Amino acid sequence: MKLNTILFIAALFLIVPIFGQTSQPSTEKKEAMKYVDEPHSYAQPNKAAIRHLDLDINVDFSKKIITGVASYQIDNNNANEIILDSKFLSILKVKADGVDTEFTLGDFDEQLGQALKINIKETTKSIAVYYETTEKTEALQWLNAQQTADKNHPFLFTQGQAILTRTWIPIQDSPQLRITYGATVKVPTELMAVMSAENPKEKTNDGVYTFAMRQAISPYLIALAVGDIAYKAISNRTGVYAENSMLEKVHYEFSDMEKMVVAAENLYGKYAWEQFDVIVLPPSFPFGGMENPRLTFATPTVIAGDKSLTSIVAHELAHSWSGNLVTNATWDDFWLNEGFTVYFEMRIMEALYGKDRANMLAHIARQQLSDEIEGFKNTPDETKLKHNLKGRNPDDGMTSIPYDKGYLFLRTIEEQVGREKFDAFLKTYFESHAFSTMSTERFIVYLNENLLDKYNVDFNTEEWIYQPGLPANQAIITSNKFDKVEQTLKQILKTNTADAALTTNWTTQEWVHFVKNLPANISVKQLSLLDDTFDLTNSSNSYIAMVWFEKAVSNNYHNNEIDKRIENFLTTVGRRWYVSTIYKAFKKAGRKEEALKIYTKARPNYHSVTTNTIDDLLDF
Ligand code: BES
Ligand code: ZN
Repeated sequence: MKLNTILFIAALFLIVPIFGQTSQPSTEKKEAMKYVDEPHSYAQPNKAAIRHLDLDINVDFSKKIITGVASYQIDNNNANEIILDSKFLSILKVKADGVDTEFTLGDFDEQLGQALKINIKETTKSIAVYYETTEKTEALQWLNAQQTADKNHPFLFTQGQAILTRTWIPIQDSPQLRITYGATVKVPTELMAVMSAENPKEKTNDGVYTFAMRQAISPYLIALAVGDIAYKAISNRTGVYAENSMLEKVHYEFSDMEKMVVAAENLYGKYAWEQFDVIVLPPSFPFGGMENPRLTFATPTVIAGDKSLTSIVAHELAHSWSGNLVTNATWDDFWLNEGFTVYFEMRIMEALYGKDRANMLAHIARQQLSDEIEGFKNTPDETKLKHNLKGRNPDDGMTSIPYDKGYLFLRTIEEQVGREKFDAFLKTYFESHAFSTMSTERFIVYLNENLLDKYNVDFNTEEWIYQPGLPANQAIITSNKFDKVEQTLKQILKTNTADAALTTNWTTQEWVHFVKNLPANISVKQLSLLDDTFDLTNSSNSYIAMVWFEKAVSNNYHNNEIDKRIENFLTTVGRRWYVSTIYKAFKKAGRKEEALKIYTKARPNYHSVTTNTIDDLLDF
């Protein structure tokens, strides 16, 4: 054999495994692919799995429904049936390879919805589901013009995570599935549509938009927003979408986005999704941010005017690796998405803004974790990193535990093995598992093989992951800036005098720490002294306002001004973490009736994710 030939064959062996790890798995890999049992989906993907979605829909603002067809190319393992998840959808007709076929809808389950069972042949390669959404949809929030920033046009956005995609698209709604998608979306001509895909930068004349997501993603990451929005680029691969009156402010607030992407790439490898944009939604958006691929969805409450709340962008960007590239296999493994993302978020913030800022953020997370663990003192199982959410809403698992205990776990490992080794490990972890899913158990094996055993490090991984509470070897989080804040606070309380000069140049994080650490039994007189000096009631920063309102409510600090402010906040903002914190304070202070009065007014403005939580909290 010639040397050339030998080299050629050798090269083939090198190339094949690399291709095997891209978004389009090779045939060998496909056959070996086994999906684990999934408590939150009816789908049986080992028999027949969706592979590519073509969505053709019309967005009808007058009826508040989406109508259309979801067509799928499928991987069919000689099955006679393919099962999709469906919740609050009306299924009109189903085809298999272009011919009408029989289907049934199973019993309705409060969490999961219904199994949509479709008859297919062993040779069937595609199916098409003709459907309409209904008014019970949980993913969609239809907003009228009054609920937007510009107040001229209605707005629509979706929220898929964790198991809500099935309420706007019939789909195999398990994070283990990965599909590519294309979409044609028809909207009123005054509006623009954007998705977690390649997006338009301008409106079209006919209101028809076509989209392509060429990289395989999990169904919870399919997202759509429709509104009177415009685009402004930050760099050739980053930019912002917002309503017109917000566009400049949003552009300023997020102007470091390109730098964030560069910092992230320097840490853990190339950004895999080409474009990174953020859309700022109306204030009812139930989360701080949502990492929809190529297009993060964000709350307008982060637009503080001074870039002080942009760690949310770092967080959603980090999900481009942890979550979107390497995805939790089930919602019990949610900490793999969020814990890694908080760790990565802190590293991006440190790279861009330095240790002081990163330490403050880590300290706030650490205190949040202590509060959460304290809150779970009667149900300690809730404080385990690995969840057991079978029979429950996966949303129940969205506490500080996967986020901040996950972060502390990774930071503790980092401190034990050293940053250099830990970074190399994480980079390889993301590279070698790109476009696939990860379970807690497989992660432990990987961690041992590639870090702990490799460097002979003794570490209590199992305790961290499977036991409640915090292990004794936890990293200690400190912040010099916060030490100073605490000294200032002590001085104010001791002397009962406050002076604005004490807090000159304080950042948002320092204010938050100050307010959160006011003593539980602080008097109304002291609160009013602080308010007179620092005008906290009128803070234009949503985070400072929120923690201040929590204190005020808890300690019965009342007056016309603050009462009005709180009511206004709760009736315009729908960000669940913010509003639930304030409603909880009302409840704890024995003021549930007042809370219910406000909630009755506010509820029509909230997304289902938020009403679900607050309905429970206030027994609405
Ligand atoms: N992916 C989450 C939001 C989410 C989690 C939605 C579970 C539905 C179910 C997102 O990345 C997130 O964590 N958002 C945080 C912001 C953050 C900076 C911690 C939020 O909204 O509070
Ligand atoms: Zn997150």
